[in-house]
Amino acid sequence: MAATDLERFSNEEKRNLSLGGHVGFDSLPDQLVSKSVTQGFSFNILCVGETGIGKSTLMNTLFNTTFETEEASHYESAVRLRPRTYELQESNVHLKLTIVDAVGFGDQINKDERPIVEYIDTQFENYLQEELKIRRSLFNYHDTRIHVCLYFITPTGHSLKSLDLVTMKKLDSKVNIIPIIAKADTISKSELHKFKIKIMSELVSNGVQIYQFPTDDEAVAEINSVMNAHLPFAVVGSTEEVKVGNKLVRARQYPWGVVQVENESHCDFVKLREMLIRVNMEDLREQTHTRHYELYRRCKLEEMGFKDTDPDSQPFSLQETYETKRKEFLGELQRKEEEMRQMFVNKVKETEAELKEKERELHEKFEHLKRIHQEEKRKVEEKRRELEEEMNAFNRRKVAVETLQSHSFQATSQQPLKKDKDRKK
Ligand code: GTP
Ligand code: MG
Repeated sequence: MAATDLERFSNEEKRNLSLGGHVGFDSLPDQLVSKSVTQGFSFNILCVGETGIGKSTLMNTLFNTTFETEEASHYESAVRLRPRTYELQESNVHLKLTIVDAVGFGDQINKDERPIVEYIDTQFENYLQEELKIRRSLFNYHDTRIHVCLYFITPTGHSLKSLDLVTMKKLDSKVNIIPIIAKADTISKSELHKFKIKIMSELVSNGVQIYQFPTDDEAVAEINSVMNAHLPFAVVGSTEEVKVGNKLVRARQYPWGVVQVENESHCDFVKLREMLIRVNMEDLREQTHTRHYELYRRCKLEEMGFKDTDPDSQPFSLQETYETKRKEFLGELQRKEEEMRQMFVNKVKETEAELKEKERELHEKFEHLKRIHQEEKRKVEEKRRELEEEMNAFNRRKVAVETLQSHSFQATSQQPLKKDKDRKK
């Protein structure tokens, strides 16, 4: 076909034709449904909220089962993400459900949201790596990307904590956030109303994008727009069954009455279950793929040097990109090597200077000690000389005294003889 014909063909209006009889492609939606059902679905929920806020209880209430749980300690050294995967079945539909707990979040000093962001990014990265493989198996790949983040707000009736705002802001471009007020039975009706308005206005003024139930599909537009106005849902969780009238219902029993989990005038639990599981689960999965994952993928590929080209220009060359990236990488490597070498040389010089300084100090110390020693030696020498002189003088005196003594002895011994002579005379 000539180029002009091709252009004309692609610019032509599509014509509507009627079929002469039943062909069969009207079964395409059924084929899709049956294929999806056999394949099963995966759905991944991230629960973020302070320790003991009621995350596990709400999950058990939502899926009407008991997931394995263990109480988190308030003394975790850092925020830790704990994923647990379960196979659930309802009618003939299989659901691979993963519940990820952000253990230790909001506890004293472990307030950091970074491990949560890292976890979400790692799941995107794993999916991207699978996509980029030569032999991809996306068909049976266990997709662990987070489809929804249930953000548990503490029912203070006051305002959002700055930790809540910072965390939601960091997460909003990576995951669909549904904020919920936990343990809503602990807050009065009028306070709850004001609290909801306050939360929404704080989210808006801080530019936090929460998940909006989609209103573009006619079938669910009405219910979704009504539900959007009820956000954030105020929920109560309980797996305890209480007899109300002649029916057993899930509720929390207090001395003054019973809070029924599935009673819409008591809390928004039913609204949350409706929106999250029955109406918008597929949209949450789709938004994760088309919005959040797409953003991650785009940034990552751009970072790797890939770019889109317009139809008129040369097609994108993988080889060229590889070469440029390789050159960039080698250049960077060389720069880093040089930097490290320089650092090493500087370090050696520094150490050398330090050693020299230490040697000088030691030398000075030695000289000083030597001087002190010589001084001491001189003093001792002088003392010795003095003592010797003293000893000599003493000895001289001793000799003198001894001579004197012997003379006087001689003198006294001669005196009686003289007296005798005198008497004889
Ligand atoms: P960690 O996993 O240890 O962080 O706790 P968690 O957030 O999973 O909380 P969990 O579901 O274990 O509940 C903690 C306590 O709060 C339990 O005693 C629950 O019975 C209670 N609780 C859970 N949900 C509610 C609720 O809606 N209202 C009230 N009043 N208490 C609740
Ligand atoms: Mg728990």
